[in-house]
Amino acid sequence: MTKHISTIEQDADDRKLTAGDRDVSRYARCITASKRVRWTIEEVIQGRTFDMTQNFLPKGFSKTAEFPNLSSEEIRFISQIQGRTYANMFGLLERYVNAKILELSQDHWFGNQTKLEALVRFSDEEIKHQQLFRRIEKMIASAMPEGYDFTPQPNPVAKMVLGKGTWAVLGLTLMVELVTQAHYRESIAQDENLSPLYRDVFRYHWLEECQHAILDELEWRRENAKLDASERDGAVDELIELAGAIDGILQDQAAADAVYFEMTVGRTVAPNEMEEIVAGFLKAYRWQYIFSGAENARFAKVIRELTTDEQMQRIDAALQTIV
Ligand SMILES: [Fe+2]
Ligand SMILES: [Fe+2]
Repeated sequence: MTKHISTIEQDADDRKLTAGDRDVSRYARCITASKRVRWTIEEVIQGRTFDMTQNFLPKGFSKTAEFPNLSSEEIRFISQIQGRTYANMFGLLERYVNAKILELSQDHWFGNQTKLEALVRFSDEEIKHQQLFRRIEKMIASAMPEGYDFTPQPNPVAKMVLGKGTWAVLGLTLMVELVTQAHYRESIAQDENLSPLYRDVFRYHWLEECQHAILDELEWRRENAKLDASERDGAVDELIELAGAIDGILQDQAAADAVYFEMTVGRTVAPNEMEEIVAGFLKAYRWQYIFSGAENARFAKVIRELTTDEQMQRIDAALQTIV
């Protein structure tokens, strides 16, 4: 059992440390927390299967209010389609996250071994998360009608993201990993018909993502210190391009998921209703994968510290175009 260190004691300890030491102590705390919360896929699934009478995503999460004309069974089906896409989206994004973390770990190979260990654990957890989400996709696939299509592929998307500089990639990664906090909060909110299995997926994933978000921030600040003002200015543009690319993936998937709904719902969907359904999926996905991270207080604080007022205005303007 790992010794528990209270935040107050830890803060007092931190004050005695130099900035470099303090960084190491943060990496060390991530290792401690990672060991304490570590779980296996079997502990998450516990031999259960998905019950198709339950919602897979919490109501506030699937933005059910955006689908005003659907029956309660159809709304539940929308939640299940989104739950399937959720597993696929995280499986997709974690491919590039892991590759970037492995690349960054090279900087610590012959340096501080605590920092190296923290990133090795991060990478190991991300591989496990991808396995979990592939397993969830298979389980949901066996319970749903045929015809679902998840269009983006992990490797091409990873290569596209990793084609940008590290500053932009880590900015996107911090945002993506912080979304799991908002998702966990939603999942514990009142929703008596939420699948207990999916509730556990949110909880267990969040437990390990908490450490990832801390490490993203540490590595982002480390990268930030290497850049001069003009390099950082270019990196801000790259981060905006990445947010736009993620939004492009969400637009395609929202359209694909609406088509799947139309094919399998068992009634005729009028063209104007179809437009509303595509828009509803897109609004939910933009909240799930972009805005629940971008609006996170921690993300807002860090990005404000790393950028100028003018750069923040550019980022805000780009996010406004997505809204
Ligand atoms: Fe993950
Ligand atoms: Fe992660």
